[in-house]
Amino acid sequence: MPSPGFDVVIVGAGAAGLMCALTAGYVGRRVLVLDHANKPGKKILMSGGGRCNFTNLATGPANFFSGNPHFCISALKRYRPEHFVELVERHGVDYVEKAPGQLFCAHSAKELLDVLLTECEWAGVELRLKTAVERIEPVGEAMRLVTSTGRIEAGAVVIATGGLSIPTMGATGFGYDIARQFGLEVTETRPALVPFTLTSQWKARVADLAGVACDVAVSAVRAGQRLGPGRERRYREPMLFTHRGLSGPGMLQISSYWQPGDELEIDLLPNISVGEALAAARHDTPRRQLSTWLGECLPRRLAQALTEWHGEDPILAELSNARLEAWHERLGHWRLKPAGTEGWRTAEVTLGGVDTASISSKDFSVEGLPQLRFIGEVLDVTGELGGYNFQWAWASGVACGNAL
Ligand code: FDA
Repeated sequence: MPSPGFDVVIVGAGAAGLMCALTAGYVGRRVLVLDHANKPGKKILMSGGGRCNFTNLATGPANFFSGNPHFCISALKRYRPEHFVELVERHGVDYVEKAPGQLFCAHSAKELLDVLLTECEWAGVELRLKTAVERIEPVGEAMRLVTSTGRIEAGAVVIATGGLSIPTMGATGFGYDIARQFGLEVTETRPALVPFTLTSQWKARVADLAGVACDVAVSAVRAGQRLGPGRERRYREPMLFTHRGLSGPGMLQISSYWQPGDELEIDLLPNISVGEALAAARHDTPRRQLSTWLGECLPRRLAQALTEWHGEDPILAELSNARLEAWHERLGHWRLKPAGTEGWRTAEVTLGGVDTASISSKDFSVEGLPQLRFIGEVLDVTGELGGYNFQWAWASGVACGNAL
């Protein structure tokens, strides 16, 4: 058999693929990265509003969804956020901590992509763009790839083709097809970190609120049972009204728990106990209008809308205990059933993916077929919002690259 042209071919020049490539290059492997897109790292460039939230200092297994919650532990432990920060600092890229633990490029995500591409160049990695992979087949202990630009033989193939979100950026289900071809399971996939759409009734109600944001606490409710992270079972982050529905970090986060038919429970005033605060205001300032009080706690347009939706704006003295309790429920436990989500068009990530049951958490190889590996978002490992998904891409890329 002819000796393979490359030790390893990586399919997908995204975050995980590039990180794996430079790591394997530095340990002396001849590496080729293929991508069907015309540019590498498109999602890196568009992430974090163009400034890429490239890691989260508090990354841990609890920040990930997976059918096997233990799978991510090994790689995350071996390549930690500080390791990536060290790389970024070595290249003189300025960064800022926008929210606790969330690191963003201070200027542009392009600087971060340049770090990866420069490192790939230094590590001797070859990058071929506009190359579609049509087929992958084992040839003895090596692999053959049939591509739009010819056949390539390699000792190993790493699938780093990401998830299904934003098809216009080059996302495909290719990685899942390859997994199935080699007998691996693919768990159900659905869009996550995605805005909600509303029924026409609610859409009309919130139409004038587009652009209004407020801090909320949100959980999902399925058949009377609350769903959400940790003991509190809710995310406490901002919500944004849009022309189509509800977005903002709080909504994106809870979308990873939400399933069609679930309700959202939104606390519009998570910093106070609404009932107690309203009762105190009724006692201290009985002549004040309800909308005035609401306008001091919430954005004015939202305060106004709330009194319109519920058809009452009494002075506080006129609020009976029963009506006060009703406002406590409306503001602290606003139940809303979304029509759906905006789907793959705007989702940041894919929940589900290649089942990790037959993948090694040490080197990401397929059980019984060590020349095939899967890394990054194509796997059934999905992070919360806040830099965790890139940290997974880096960590899985490094763990795999070191073992090639
Ligand atoms: P990625 O999707 O990055 O790369 C896959 C590559 O494979 C692409 O280059 C694609 O063209 C290529 N490919 C696909 N099919 C192919 C085929 N058949 N043949 C050849 N090539 C193929 N995360 C985070 O931590 N912080 C953030 O700030 C953000 N922000 C953000 C914003 C938006 C708008 C999105 C859509 C996503 C984010 N994310 C994020 C998520 C993050 O971008 C994502 O988890 C990582 O990019 C996943 O890295 P991968 O390398 O696994 O896939």
